[in-house]
Amino acid sequence: MVLSKRLKSIAGLIYRTDNVIDIGCDHAKLGIYLVKNKILNYLLVSDVNQNAIENGIKNIKKNKLEKKIDARLGYGLEVIDVHTDTAVISGLGTNTIIKILSNPNLKQIKKLIIQANNDHFLLRRFMVLKGFYISHESVVYEKGHYYINIVFLRGKRKYTLKELRYGPILMYANKDYFDFLLKKKHAILDNIPKYKFWTRIKHHKDAIYLKKLTK
Ligand SMILES: C[S@@+](CC[C@H](N)C(=O)[O-])C[C@H]1O[C@@H](n2cnc3c(N)ncnc32)[C@H](O)[C@@H]1O
Repeated sequence: MVLSKRLKSIAGLIYRTDNVIDIGCDHAKLGIYLVKNKILNYLLVSDVNQNAIENGIKNIKKNKLEKKIDARLGYGLEVIDVHTDTAVISGLGTNTIIKILSNPNLKQIKKLIIQANNDHFLLRRFMVLKGFYISHESVVYEKGHYYINIVFLRGKRKYTLKELRYGPILMYANKDYFDFLLKKKHAILDNIPKYKFWTRIKHHKDAIYLKKLTK
């Protein structure tokens, strides 16, 4: 089984001591990789969709890992065990992730590894309000897409709005990604009519800041 570069980058953020649930596991490929590569001896994987979890269970059985990967049907943090302390969430939008994490069971989670599809500002702000800080950020490029990994750990730290928007670690770490964002911003600017003066100014200011991050 070949794991995508995107999912392999998540595997690299998981330690042997983490007690993991992969929420929204779908095919369960990440869990299978983690156990087969001896990164974890056991983990939970879950999905809210019956077909998805059945697909995952089929793959787990194919790899004879039923004793090491516990697959559960259910919504987000609802299905965790008492000792689960680390959650992986990848391939979901920030609004869904926020719904999943707005659950009392979040109190027992110490580490979150999130690869959200969108709105990283909202995600960072939400997590900081929930009492987490950002311990790691990285960008993975695969098949024309940039994916952002963020690891949140328990603890208080203050961030500026710019840090929440561009990533307190990312903004110093990946020029190619900001170059990509800058090109996107220029394309947006090209499509804003001249009479929308203030909208142009706002996007122009963003472009100036993004330019700084590409240097
Ligand atoms: C796009 S797939 C991503 C699969 C995998 N995590 C990855 O990154 O390749 C998203 C999966 O999350 C599941 N999902 C969506 N909302 C969920 C929730 N609230 N709780 C558990 N799973 C959820 C979907 O059913 C789907 O299988």
